[in-house]
Amino acid sequence: MSSPAPAKRLYIKTYGCQMNVYDSERMADVLAPLGYGVTDDPAGADLVVLNTCHIREKATEKLYSELGKIREMKEARAAAGGQMMIAVAGCVAQAEGAEIMRRQPAVDLVVGPQAYHQLPELIARVHRARGERLAADFAPQAKFDALTAERRPTGVTAFLTVQEGCDKFCSFCVVPYTRGAEWSRGPDAIEAEARALADKGVREITLLGQNVNAYAGDGGLAGLVRRLAKIPGVERIRYTTSHPRDMDEALIAAHAEVAELMPYLHLPVQSGSDRILKAMNRGHTAESYLRLIERVRGSRPGIALSGDFIVGFPGERDADFEATLSLVREVGYASAFSFKYSRRPGTPAAAMPGQAAEEVKDERLARLQALLDDQQMAFNQSQAGRTLPVLFEKLGRHEGQLIGRSPYLQSVHAVAPDRLIGQIVPVRIESAARNSLAGALELEPA
Ligand code: SAH
Ligand code: SF4
Ligand code: F3S
Repeated sequence: MSSPAPAKRLYIKTYGCQMNVYDSERMADVLAPLGYGVTDDPAGADLVVLNTCHIREKATEKLYSELGKIREMKEARAAAGGQMMIAVAGCVAQAEGAEIMRRQPAVDLVVGPQAYHQLPELIARVHRARGERLAADFAPQAKFDALTAERRPTGVTAFLTVQEGCDKFCSFCVVPYTRGAEWSRGPDAIEAEARALADKGVREITLLGQNVNAYAGDGGLAGLVRRLAKIPGVERIRYTTSHPRDMDEALIAAHAEVAELMPYLHLPVQSGSDRILKAMNRGHTAESYLRLIERVRGSRPGIALSGDFIVGFPGERDADFEATLSLVREVGYASAFSFKYSRRPGTPAAAMPGQAAEEVKDERLARLQALLDDQQMAFNQSQAGRTLPVLFEKLGRHEGQLIGRSPYLQSVHAVAPDRLIGQIVPVRIESAARNSLAGALELEPA
């Protein structure tokens, strides 16, 4: 009697944006035919992949400290007669390349975001010869063709990358260097992937791109949204992240006309000061952003708005920061992400005069976040008493409870039977906290 070959264990840790989350899932898919099953225990893994982010300094430091820990696990495994391979993927891999293996020799493989389809081959090479270990070419089409063939969605919501890269060159940002030029997948391949997801039970698809609304396929992002909305089973569509410069009339109109397109828009502005926006090379002003928001709200009243902010950009004075606070007050965000400016070598802003002191950044970030937190709480509370369609995603923390999302991307929990997972159900919102809503089923389930 022969027993099946023991399964190999794959541990993937993901940092950074949702595009990395998507890529990590695809890496697991492409490695599954080689016998790799995902584990959440790095110590017992045969292959450890760290899918990295380069956006802020701490992320890189975190990577090296994480690699130190993984290296100890690798040594422990070797001492016990086993083997572990360590791979670094993602944007730090793209940016630093072989430097990573120099700083941490326990790393076997460095693979950039455009080369994940080569993982099986790269792993085989490491096994054989410790030869060619670096793959960081830009060739997105080949990557997508090879990676999306075997998707195994695990829930009722899924990410779908439709665009990669960035041509905007904001002066603070590494993404145009780590992810390459703006590039859009063909709509046929995207539709095929969306159909396959829907067939497997996915009800909500979030279209991803570093600048997703720069999607350049036929009809732009609006055309793509309309096309995907027709797929049976696709009940909700979202997209992220958008750039104000690429927010065209067709997309704004789609928010009014396509019921499947959820009333939520993540539209980073970064700063409310025109001086700073100019130094950031954002290509828009505070005023043009506010007018854009007005048009979006005109098209889809009640839409939840979200954004990204940077405080302490080089040269930011008190008056510039006050302008950011005032823009935030004028917009009224439902949620937001805010960061202290972090100096990234190689970007133009890193060489600018007037780098802000850490205390100044801390103080501004605290004030901005207090305001944004209040707005988020106010937005959530404004839903209390309303009935919202909730897509239930999974079991809640308490017995008998399910967790899902409102159209506005709020997390909602309610007592509900398991079989409602994957369904959109009216839920009466009873109370609101900053990070979630609590509700009750509007109708007794039959
Ligand atoms: N393409 C998207 C997202 C880019 S990265 C966009 O343009 O909005 C996500 C966020 O990280 C950015 O919006 C920005 O707020 C933040 N970020 C990028 N580089 C940064 C840096 N050097 N320091 C601090 N925050 C940064
Ligand atoms: Fe970075 Fe700006 Fe491109 Fe966004 S638009 S990825 S912040 S360069
Ligand atoms: Fe980070 Fe790369 Fe995403 S730098 S935010 S993982 S595109």
